[in-house]
Amino acid sequence: MGADFVGNNTLDRQDRQDVMLGLGGLQSKFKICIFEEINWSVKMKTTTLLLATIAIIGLVGCKKTDNYTPAATASGEDIFNMNCTKCHKPNTDGSVMVLNAAVANKDAIIKKVQIGSTSMAAFPNITGESANRLAEYVLANSKTK
Ligand code: HEC
Repeated sequence: MGADFVGNNTLDRQDRQDVMLGLGGLQSKFKICIFEEINWSVKMKTTTLLLATIAIIGLVGCKKTDNYTPAATASGEDIFNMNCTKCHKPNTDGSVMVLNAAVANKDAIIKKVQIGSTSMAAFPNITGESANRLAEYVLANSKTK
């Protein structure tokens, strides 16, 4: 230990396995982001730090990419229920979202979905007709602030 370890910031095989297990469902951008953090914390060589780092990423938010690709026949409602309701819970009046006026148009909704944000996953594969149907569904079923 000690001197032997100085300057070694690569993950050993077990660390890698642990990391991959923990990352199972996460998408590539998030992985890269986590890996940068993990490389740093493996240097510190404590599991506690590793977990704390992951928790911090969870809190601060690190942009994720969702590679979901809609089936050609998926309706806007299908796409919404499959991908969006895990974060956007429908309101008690049945509307699915309360949109800021600036986002209450199809182009802005499509852009938001494809680009995401620090707290919202990006869905770069929802494009074309699917994106159009999704945006129409969101617009038709949302209220505007
Ligand atoms: C990981 C959670 C998450 C998922 C999944 C998610 N969103 Fe979001 N979304 C958010 C958060 C948090 C915000 C508010 C912060 C922001 O604007 O980035 C938001 C904001 C938005 C906005 C802007 C609302 C406004 O008025 O500014 C739209 C439109 C939107 N989401 C649509 C969608 C659609 C459509 C899907 C499904 C394809 C989706 N979101 C999936 C978390 C999520």
